[in-house]
Amino acid sequence: MTILVSGARGNVARALVRLLLENDHEVRAAGRDPRATRLPAGVDVVAADLAHPEGWDVALDGVTKAFVYAGTAGLDGFLSRASGLAQVVLLSALGADPTSDDAITRAHGEAEEAVRAAGIPWTFLRPGGFATNRLMWADAVRAGVVRDPFPDSHSALVHEADIAEVAACALTASGHLGAAYALTGPESLTVRRQAALVGQAARRPVRVEAQDLDDYRRELTAVLEARGLGRVGSAEVVEARIRRLAALVDRPQPTTETVREITGHAARGFAEWAADHVRDFA
Ligand SMILES: NC(=O)c1ccc[n+]([C@@H]2O[C@H](COP(=O)([O-])OP(=O)(O)OC[C@H]3O[C@@H](n4cnc5c(N)ncnc54)[C@H](OP(=O)(O)O)[C@@H]3O)[C@@H](O)[C@H]2O)c1
Repeated sequence: MTILVSGARGNVARALVRLLLENDHEVRAAGRDPRATRLPAGVDVVAADLAHPEGWDVALDGVTKAFVYAGTAGLDGFLSRASGLAQVVLLSALGADPTSDDAITRAHGEAEEAVRAAGIPWTFLRPGGFATNRLMWADAVRAGVVRDPFPDSHSALVHEADIAEVAACALTASGHLGAAYALTGPESLTVRRQAALVGQAARRPVRVEAQDLDDYRRELTAVLEARGLGRVGSAEVVEARIRRLAALVDRPQPTTETVREITGHAARGFAEWAADHVRDFA
């Protein structure tokens, strides 16, 4: 049974490939640029891009299950080639809803609808904000000043290792078909507290300063365009992100127990994430 992990360069996909290999599963990784995947030597990596669906025929050859990112721009092309699979695990997002006014939530809801319509047994992972979003701070942490438009905004950021573990459980154990898992970290922390924890892990003093919203828009747009999943325009995503951050100023984000329920251990906290990523901030 070969499991296909797409988006091989992504933080979740990389962690998932490692986990499946450690547990002796047969894995094929697929990414837009196989040379850029940073996966262990010997992993079968093939080129595949949601924007060019014909490439998936090779990636899917002999595969029984797949982990896939929610790029609606090319998801239909992937799904039409994946109809014989026993399961697709879709990396969706918290609250996914095709009728939402929020561009991010709507795009993920549409991706879920496309998977449902394809008739392939599915599991949806619906994480909230990723702790890896804070990798954007690397240069700022080195300089000792993190700028953010909402320093008192809360988030219960989730560790990529927890998302990957839930994905691995969903792909390799029974009882996960037709389930949608809302995943968060174990605690809701402000941006200030997150920056302090990264500073502690990196052993650098880090100060947080309020950032001009237009500067934030420019920075986030550049990050999203480099990532490019082509679901919705970056401007719409940036504005949705800003509205969410503003809504969580001084308001803790609710957390879920799903990571514990699926994996048997508590979700990893943000301090642990920062310790795991010390080298990214060195
Ligand atoms: N960041 C968050 O807070 C958050 C929260 C909830 C849900 N999510 C979901 O998780 C996704 C990725 O997480 P991330 O934002 O942290 O990004 P990331 O780790 O930088 O990964 C981006 C991934 O998208 C893949 N990708 C991009 N364009 C693709 C294409 N045309 N065809 C196939 N794969 C493509 C990349 O694969 P290759 O480069 O290897 O091809 C890479 O695996 C988001 O797009 C979103 O759907 C994110």
